[in-house]
Amino acid sequence: MQTVHTIQAVREFVNAAKQQGKKVGFVPTMGNLHAGHIHLIAQAKTQADVVICSIFVNPTQFGANEDFGSYPRTLEADSQQLQAAACDLLFAPSAQEMYQDGFSQHTVVTVNGLSEQLCGQFRPTHFAGVATVVSKLFNIVQPDMAFFGEKDFQQLAVIRCLTQELAFPIEIVGVATQRAEDGLALSSRNGYLSAEERAKAPMIYQMLQQLKTAIENGHRDYTMLCDAAMLHLQKSGFDPDYIAVKRAIDLQDANADDTNLVLLVAARLGKTRLIDNVAFRLNG
Ligand code: PAF
Repeated sequence: MQTVHTIQAVREFVNAAKQQGKKVGFVPTMGNLHAGHIHLIAQAKTQADVVICSIFVNPTQFGANEDFGSYPRTLEADSQQLQAAACDLLFAPSAQEMYQDGFSQHTVVTVNGLSEQLCGQFRPTHFAGVATVVSKLFNIVQPDMAFFGEKDFQQLAVIRCLTQELAFPIEIVGVATQRAEDGLALSSRNGYLSAEERAKAPMIYQMLQQLKTAIENGHRDYTMLCDAAMLHLQKSGFDPDYIAVKRAIDLQDANADDTNLVLLVAARLGKTRLIDNVAFRLNG
């Protein structure tokens, strides 16, 4: 695996690959890689001829009081994992390479509507940071396909929207959430959990499964179901931001007739903010 740090070096690599008629797959990350990321690389390997992974802890998607400073930077270990996964190129730019004029860029990509709700309500600048850096990475790498985990369901919706509306000729591939044996969705932030918190954290996924079963069994008062689930999490020591039932296709509020649904949750456990979701279809 080659590692490069400049936009020019990525472009040269991609141009050479494309000249050989190769299909380029791209996995953007913020590093501190876990089995979920490696699964994205493996998926990309099955669908593309050449796989590029980027590692960039993007400052503009963190709020003022969030964990940008403490976000784990583990480039050496990440690089070894990518090498073992047969990734072809690692693009690890500096902040200066990505934001030459500082972080307050004139150009910002905002996906209205999808970005203000759910996590956007609690992290008001987050999705503009994500949408802008992903657009920029797409323009730098110019892949044929890009792979994102479904754990970040809202992020994936935002990226699908900007890709379509800004006419990026890139196929967006959503990849199923990878989970620990006890159901906890793999996340770089799980490392923040204490042993006690880690033991409690799978409750989030269990709660989503219980909500799904309730809905499959015919419960349609989603407000009541979500309020009860919020209370349950609060009593168990979580500080939930939201629990919601949405239409999977456009993240609009689900009504009783909708059949393609997603349950989404964000909750703090100590200083760790956990998110998870379960998408499913109702028969008939
Ligand atoms: O999901 C992530 O790791 C980040 O939000 C992304 C897509 C790499 C943009 O910084």
